[in-house]
Amino acid sequence: MTGKLTFTMIKPSAVEAGHSGKILDMIITAGFHIRGIKKVKLSTAQAGKFYEVHKERPFYQSLVAYMTSGPVYAMVLEKEDAVNTFRKLIGATNPAEAEEGTIRKKFGLSLEKNAVHGSDSDENAIIESHFFFSELEMN
Ligand code: CMP
Repeated sequence: MTGKLTFTMIKPSAVEAGHSGKILDMIITAGFHIRGIKKVKLSTAQAGKFYEVHKERPFYQSLVAYMTSGPVYAMVLEKEDAVNTFRKLIGATNPAEAEEGTIRKKFGLSLEKNAVHGSDSDENAIIESHFFFSELEMN
């Protein structure tokens, strides 16, 4: 069975470049219901914890530094088969490999500055949503 929720962040470079409105429009137009949204500036500890699964990867420190470099928009999104449908909308992790018309192809600058994060599984969607939002904030 596939879940109805996914979690996303609009990353600092996309926020700073002024792409948040266009990215939000693409998400809403694709039929996602925004269950929760907030603009936050992560601390090093928070970003480190969020990306803890990548702790041993060579890009971890750079990723944490980047994700704390400016505010992000964090969102919980709802749609049928949310994780897979959203991953199709955003495209491949590396914008250079993302399909035309996807969010990362349009707004991504590099593998790290790839415009948006998207949960990779239903289990992580729940964990990541609760990292940022209480039940009260998801409606
Ligand atoms: P995101 O969906 O936020 O999840 C982890 C992030 O690590 C990923 O997007 C990329 O921005 C970043 N990253 C940097 N280098 C790599 C890499 N070699 N493989 C996968 N992700 C990477």
